[in-house]
Amino acid sequence: MPFSRADFGADFYWGAAAAAYQTEGAWQQQGKGPSIWDDFTRRKGAIRRNEHARVAADFYNRYEEDLDLAQGLGLTDFRCSVAWPRVLPEGTGAVNRRGLDFYDRLVDACLERDLRPMLTLYHWDLPSALQARGGWANRSIVGWFSDYVQLVARRLGDRVPHWAVLNEPMVFVGAGHLLGVHAPGRRHLGAFLAAAHHATLAQAEGARALRAGLPEPAQIGTTFSCSYLTPYRPGHASDEAATRRADALLNRFFVEPTLGLGYPVAELPALRWLLDRYQKPGDEQRMKFDFDFWGVQNYTREVVRFSPWLPLQWATLVPAKLRKVPYTDMGWEVYPESLYHMLKQFAAYPNAPRLIVTESGSAFPDQCQGRRVADPARRAFLQAALGQVLRARRAGVDVAGYFPWSLTDNFEWAEGYGPRFGLIHIDYETQQRTVKDSGRWYQAFLNGTPAEA
Ligand code: NOJ
Repeated sequence: MPFSRADFGADFYWGAAAAAYQTEGAWQQQGKGPSIWDDFTRRKGAIRRNEHARVAADFYNRYEEDLDLAQGLGLTDFRCSVAWPRVLPEGTGAVNRRGLDFYDRLVDACLERDLRPMLTLYHWDLPSALQARGGWANRSIVGWFSDYVQLVARRLGDRVPHWAVLNEPMVFVGAGHLLGVHAPGRRHLGAFLAAAHHATLAQAEGARALRAGLPEPAQIGTTFSCSYLTPYRPGHASDEAATRRADALLNRFFVEPTLGLGYPVAELPALRWLLDRYQKPGDEQRMKFDFDFWGVQNYTREVVRFSPWLPLQWATLVPAKLRKVPYTDMGWEVYPESLYHMLKQFAAYPNAPRLIVTESGSAFPDQCQGRRVADPARRAFLQAALGQVLRARRAGVDVAGYFPWSLTDNFEWAEGYGPRFGLIHIDYETQQRTVKDSGRWYQAFLNGTPAEA
């Protein structure tokens, strides 16, 4: 069945998403302090081809051009993040006025183009000075973060309608402190559990700091990575149990404490360690926050198999390649239905707030030929993902917006510039922007052209 924009209702948010470290570049411009990603990318072998984002898409200097393109696509919303070390080079203390001025101009530039800004306060670029004091593994980060959040809210609160506290805590905590593949590159169970607990506290305390500092209509949310999980051998008891454990870790861990449900300890007994060592009296209460929205970030599904030795507490994720199913440039199965299932899963919590898809997308190799980028696979993915959002809405899920990842190509963390997610192509040699066919398709859809379901 074909569908069109009107099926999503008149108030639906049509966005695109981006993040500071992945796009801004300008790593030392106008008083910015170093972040853990500036440091991590300097480690030999940490990033594919030893790439870094000192220039990236040069968004810091080219944001007006990119927002013009976003407006041209017909978007109503734009999500980006504030780089903490741009605003507070040492993480705490002295404010870098020029850094804060940049976000002020950026917000105004969005509004001038009728784009509602959604600001993420932490998209992984922790000030290096705070890492030197233990970073997320130090409980003091809850206070450092709240102070930073207040500062940003005071300056921009009058103009920014949507706020996202953290970006995908399970990813920066897990990949950064347990797997060691993201900054700060640690592989330490204790650091992982400490960082996880402090991120859970910061998620709620940061939100409370926003609530105190923002005018009434501002909407406060936070974002979660999630993947629909299915057992490798359906009906096989050990794979089913492994799937439940992986679900607790990957989809429930940061969500349930906000609702007052605590951590999913029954499925993950190792979390008792976290409770014994890091949770203090009163923390369960502090982890709660009544968010206005949850940002759902979904790219694929995962297929889970029991494994006696792997770190996910006896669960392993079977790569798409081994399963011989179509996959993207990230190695992730092409499975847009995952989004529908996760929207349903989140909406099923009693007291769940409304949902916004704050990221969804696919990486495929692109070629820019004569100022055209033919990317049929990305276009098909976008169309299918939108179909799944509509399916969820029709099933009664309150999902209020969709933000494809990403507006432009950008620095994909440990993978460097290889995987391209953008609706707009970036030639990193010349910084030339070219709207891809997927971007043109989105534009036509937003103009009323129906999608083929
Ligand atoms: C989620 C992250 O928020 C974003 O930074 C990343 O680029 C995309 N996923 C794709 O991996």
